[in-house]
Amino acid sequence: MTVKTPPMGWNSWNTFGENINEQLIMEIADAMVSTGLKDAGYEYVVIDDCWSAKSRDENGDLVADPVKFPHGLKYLADYIHARGLKFGIYGCCGPRTCAGYPGSLDHELQDALFFARNEIDFLKYDWCTYPRAVPGWTLYNRIRMALNATGRDILLSICNWGEQDTLSWARSVGADMYRSTYDISDSFDIVRILFNEQKNNMCLSGPSCFNDMDMLICGMYGKGNVANGGCNDIEYRTHFAMWCMLSQPLMIGCDIRSMTEETRKLLTDAALIAIDQDAEVRPPIIAANNYPDRYPTMFKHLSDGSYAIGIFNISNEDTDVGALWLADIGLSPRDGYAFRVYDTESGELIGEFDDMIKPGATIPAHGCKVLRAYLVKKG
Ligand code: GLA
Repeated sequence: MTVKTPPMGWNSWNTFGENINEQLIMEIADAMVSTGLKDAGYEYVVIDDCWSAKSRDENGDLVADPVKFPHGLKYLADYIHARGLKFGIYGCCGPRTCAGYPGSLDHELQDALFFARNEIDFLKYDWCTYPRAVPGWTLYNRIRMALNATGRDILLSICNWGEQDTLSWARSVGADMYRSTYDISDSFDIVRILFNEQKNNMCLSGPSCFNDMDMLICGMYGKGNVANGGCNDIEYRTHFAMWCMLSQPLMIGCDIRSMTEETRKLLTDAALIAIDQDAEVRPPIIAANNYPDRYPTMFKHLSDGSYAIGIFNISNEDTDVGALWLADIGLSPRDGYAFRVYDTESGELIGEFDDMIKPGATIPAHGCKVLRAYLVKKG
């Protein structure tokens, strides 16, 4: 499969965990369309762990849990496809999934054929109970080959949490995206940890194989399966903007059937999504500055010749100090040009700067400013 830009969709795990069923997934597919998420670019509806029966059938095939999914997976596939969306499911490279359901070890081709028969478009493939004596990359190569053998185009989202140096082999085994971190939970502290851990690891992340810092927590407000105190709207915006500046897959984790208007606006923010989905998928420069742990600043080349600038305040106090010094990305005011800078949130022109780009307003604690800048001749 050729995946050109970071995959976008929804996944059941963050909010629903094991509490999933056919009705829920159908309502989610409907909500993807009615709330404008589909039009904003989200396409995959992914059922995570806990979808299957606890044991295989007499032929050794996986079976959907008959109580949760009484009509089976193909029925859901048809429902999802009829809405112009794609269908994702979850599996695991060990004998059991993380929640204890059957995994695909030694059933790879059989399960890949089952997924293809059920018209699955996306497989998230986890790492629990994997055989410790076998190098992890071989298990992921094995499932990729099995999926390929089915003849169906199935996106492979591998999920081994960055263990065994995933980024050094993910591209080689045919993964379309690779989890580089342990699980996210609904807390700004965790967002900050994942960001700091991965922000310098994006250089191999690009078309056909994307670094994946885990699913979005935007709009969860402290509820659901990965509840951990929750965040406010400022923090969710910062989380979303960080993921977009780093061209991360955008997999929504909240209950989109009942999301707030603020959440809907954030998740469909065209200016931020355009930065995430930029065709060149260039990782940003993490600009050196005096306060990298408080005000990390990113500068990203975009394919239309403009630049995205993210000034983040991950400290716990409001600030007027966050800024991008052009000298810190290698430019000099003597060069004769300046940046004309717009605020992506308001769309307004902030000004022209030839030495230091200021965000134009105080950045609240855990907030950010994302700017679009155009290089112009001075004066
Ligand atoms: C692991 C993964 C999560 C989720 C759960 C399901 O923890 O990292 O994203 O899929 O398993 O059990």
